[in-house]
Amino acid sequence: MPAIKFYDHEPIPMEMHKVKIVQQLNLLPADQRLEKMRKAWFNTFKLHNVDIFMDMLTDSGVNAMSDKMLASMMMPDDAYAGSESFYRMRAKLRQIFGMKYCLPAHQGRACENILADRFVKPGNCVIMNYHFTTAKAHITRVGGHVEELVKDEGLIPKSDLPFKGDIDLEKLEACIEREGADNVAFMRLEAGTNLIGGQPVSVDNFKDACAIARKHGILTVLDASLLQDNLYFIKVRDESRKDMSVRDITREIADQFDIIYFSARKFGFARGGAIMIRDKALFHSMEDLITMYEGFLTYGGMSVREMEAMTVGFDESMEMDVISQGPLFIQHCVDKLDEYGVPMITPGGGLGAHVDAMQFVSHIPQDQYPAGALTCAMYLCGGIRGMERGTLSEERNPDGSERFASMELVRLALPRRVFTLSQVEYVIDRVKWLYDHRELVGGLRFVHEPATLRFFTGKLEPVDDWPERLIAAYKAEFGEDQ
Ligand SMILES: Cc1ncc(COP(=O)(O)O)c(C=O)c1O
Repeated sequence: MPAIKFYDHEPIPMEMHKVKIVQQLNLLPADQRLEKMRKAWFNTFKLHNVDIFMDMLTDSGVNAMSDKMLASMMMPDDAYAGSESFYRMRAKLRQIFGMKYCLPAHQGRACENILADRFVKPGNCVIMNYHFTTAKAHITRVGGHVEELVKDEGLIPKSDLPFKGDIDLEKLEACIEREGADNVAFMRLEAGTNLIGGQPVSVDNFKDACAIARKHGILTVLDASLLQDNLYFIKVRDESRKDMSVRDITREIADQFDIIYFSARKFGFARGGAIMIRDKALFHSMEDLITMYEGFLTYGGMSVREMEAMTVGFDESMEMDVISQGPLFIQHCVDKLDEYGVPMITPGGGLGAHVDAMQFVSHIPQDQYPAGALTCAMYLCGGIRGMERGTLSEERNPDGSERFASMELVRLALPRRVFTLSQVEYVIDRVKWLYDHRELVGGLRFVHEPATLRFFTGKLEPVDDWPERLIAAYKAEFGEDQ
């Protein structure tokens, strides 16, 4: 992709697509947003979409589809068993990943459920560069535990390290030694490491880590949900691979693994998921779990239309013009906020811009969920819905004490091909204002706390009247109707 040059200023991120279908947005006045936030129990998952101006909760299942994807949805092969739509999808995945066997599933966490069910026994360990919420929940549900071995530098918010998702190879060897290889159910490496700011893993690290696992006879699993961002970063940050095609880089990574699974709500820009498997016996050992939990082996809970769309989406994920859009917009957002002094995770990663809430609202103690509180404040101050990725997204220790997250992040996701640069500028503007008024943001406490994945459905309340004071200051700045 050529970087488009400008006559009188530095390049800005450019959309390499044009908009054909739009959805109307709604900006509620500030007082109404406060009302909606109360009704949503200070949990942004509980807000109604119609009450949101900039929905930056997630990049999952809300990426824009291309005209070619939409067109493909008009020609599915509707069948419970033996649908051509499935065979087309499988053929594309075989071509991209070079693995023969394919089990379809309705989304990423369904794949995680099946992998945990099939491979994790009570007391087993699963090694990861970093956990993802649903992956960890499934592993602990069946009695396993997770060891996160990302390099220490990966958890330093401000950095210029190009591959902050890399697993620490020394920690990996030590962990296998400590646990015993037989007790390691599998090693799961996550491309585009979600919970530490969408940070990529280098090809060399994938290779070295898998070589160690293979040496010890440990099964290797790639979570490729965020692979497209990771591929973009490899192309632009790994000097030794800048001349390789995205497809060749993908194969070089895929060749290291026994199993690759993904959420097609991200990878493929549609809605679904799949597990690709190299070995026939392993494939057969999981088949019955698909038919039990997901659906027949040729749809796995997905609609045939979605399978058609994602088949086109997989090809688009191999194009630099497509996969660069998200990271370039994110970098723009991160750079502008960072310049202003807003604490951001740097360098910008994939899937979204990540605000370091631990620094932003350093006056809020971690047991009052600083990232959760800041996420609510962003909705109040501009109708921007982000997602808490910190202690709220953790689960308590077995003794009931809080497990404090190593990072307290607010994720402002940039679903792919969805927002324009002016909308991103609006978000930057409101976050700057909020940063200048950060002392007005207070903490949260639980009113109702579910035992598992509490961030999805938990109910919270502010510790005092800080939302009213924040809204009053906001209205004084921007007026009643903003
Ligand atoms: C890295 C990663 N793995 C797995 C999942 C789970 O996928 P899904 O939401 O489709 O269940 C996600 C979702 O955000 C993810 O980011």
